[in-house]
Amino acid sequence: MEKALQKAKSYILEQEGTVVTDYKPYLHFSARIGWINDPNGFCFDGENYHLFYQYYPYDSKWGPMHWGHASSKDLLSWTHLPVALAPSEPYDQSGIFSGTAILDKNKMSLYYTGHVDVNGVVEQCQCLATSFDKIKFTKHDKNPLITKQSMPEDSVFEDFRDPKILIRKGRYLMLTGSRTKEHLGQILIHSSTDGLSFKYENRMVFPRKYGDVVECPDLLTIDGQDVLIFSTQKAELNEHVQNSFSVFAWIGSFDDRSFVFNKQNEQVLDYGFDFYAPETSFNGHTHSLIAWMNSWERDQITDLLKHGWAGSMSIPRTLSLKSNVLHQALPQSLDENLKRTSYHEKLWIHQNEMLEYSLQKISLIKFNIDLSDEMLFKLEVFKTGDESFDIIFDGKKSCVTIDRSKAKYKIKSKLNENQITRKMMIGRKLECAMLVDHSCIELIVNGFSMSSLYYGSIDQSKLCLSSTNQIQVMNFSISD
Ligand code: FRU
Repeated sequence: MEKALQKAKSYILEQEGTVVTDYKPYLHFSARIGWINDPNGFCFDGENYHLFYQYYPYDSKWGPMHWGHASSKDLLSWTHLPVALAPSEPYDQSGIFSGTAILDKNKMSLYYTGHVDVNGVVEQCQCLATSFDKIKFTKHDKNPLITKQSMPEDSVFEDFRDPKILIRKGRYLMLTGSRTKEHLGQILIHSSTDGLSFKYENRMVFPRKYGDVVECPDLLTIDGQDVLIFSTQKAELNEHVQNSFSVFAWIGSFDDRSFVFNKQNEQVLDYGFDFYAPETSFNGHTHSLIAWMNSWERDQITDLLKHGWAGSMSIPRTLSLKSNVLHQALPQSLDENLKRTSYHEKLWIHQNEMLEYSLQKISLIKFNIDLSDEMLFKLEVFKTGDESFDIIFDGKKSCVTIDRSKAKYKIKSKLNENQITRKMMIGRKLECAMLVDHSCIELIVNGFSMSSLYYGSIDQSKLCLSSTNQIQVMNFSISD
């Protein structure tokens, strides 16, 4: 593997100066050069967060996957570290696919999927690489640890990936995403006492509406409640599930004896356009979630523009459970990193009036509103000329709609998906936070998120507020 890592290192050093940074986010993680997708091995070692990620340094398109690596103390400023894993062995020759990390004192273990594609014949297996300095990783002699032999017979052997490794009740559990021959998504569960020899225990097979394959499963416990998070391809679309590549969260309890998840509640994890394959980590106090802020089968604007990079992560969000519902919040460290430049305890917007603020490329906007029945309250973000990213709060329909149809560069999907609007049902009393960072816009309303990419002109732009009826916006602040 050493040769492949050296090659990546030299390429990144030599070529990163060629990257065009117009749309490159600053607070959202992106690679120095090249393509990224899923976050991998997201963990906290007591001092630093580690973020690995699906990485192809050599192009702004997906290619044979490596694991890139970065670390951070505050989840906002990241130090790029050497590429951690590259394809090198017969069992991972076509790519190092997604997985997770586990820490035991000084030892960091990365469980990943070895992807092999020989003339279109695909096989996936689960592998391990370890490190004592968290920089240089060695692939384990016992690889591959789990192969298609330990999948239920009616599984599609090509789809067996994205191990989530966790320790529960004193033993290792591994959850992997997969597919049945009937094209139903499934999560396979293996257990182990030493983290090396795994035994197949059970599986969860999902009804058709969840799509035809599960990817990147995650299982965590918040305040004694278990939360299962999984991403799916080709989910059936409806009013809430608006992306073919969607992410679901189940809240309930996982039975460690029968390996069954008893679901009490379910939710879509993000209502925006661009959010996939999230992963969580726990620092002893707080659960954080980070996702690839993008999706498959879409135009990648920075690739089409030949900017030399593509893909970024969401801001890591803080998770909490309230009455069986998963809430997300922007991390507190954001307030410490940005300076408040505008604040109104009470801001009146009169009927047909428009308030304008100049908007920096990185800004955090917060406010509270009480929506009334007939009211349409609108925010135009990055407004310049005819362009803007619109957010419309609709009192009558009790929803917020985001609309990116007025972007300079419009993202087209190869799937039958609307790429213009996304909608989220809301209540009346709203606490809103919006983080804009170049091409990334994240809106959080009462703990529910909408994540979107937006490519407008890079000139000076504005934030405009208007409403069909008089409205009082409370605790309105802009920080940049
Ligand atoms: C999800 C995914 C994973 C896979 C990886 C490949 O976005 O398809 O299932 O491991 O991306 O890059």
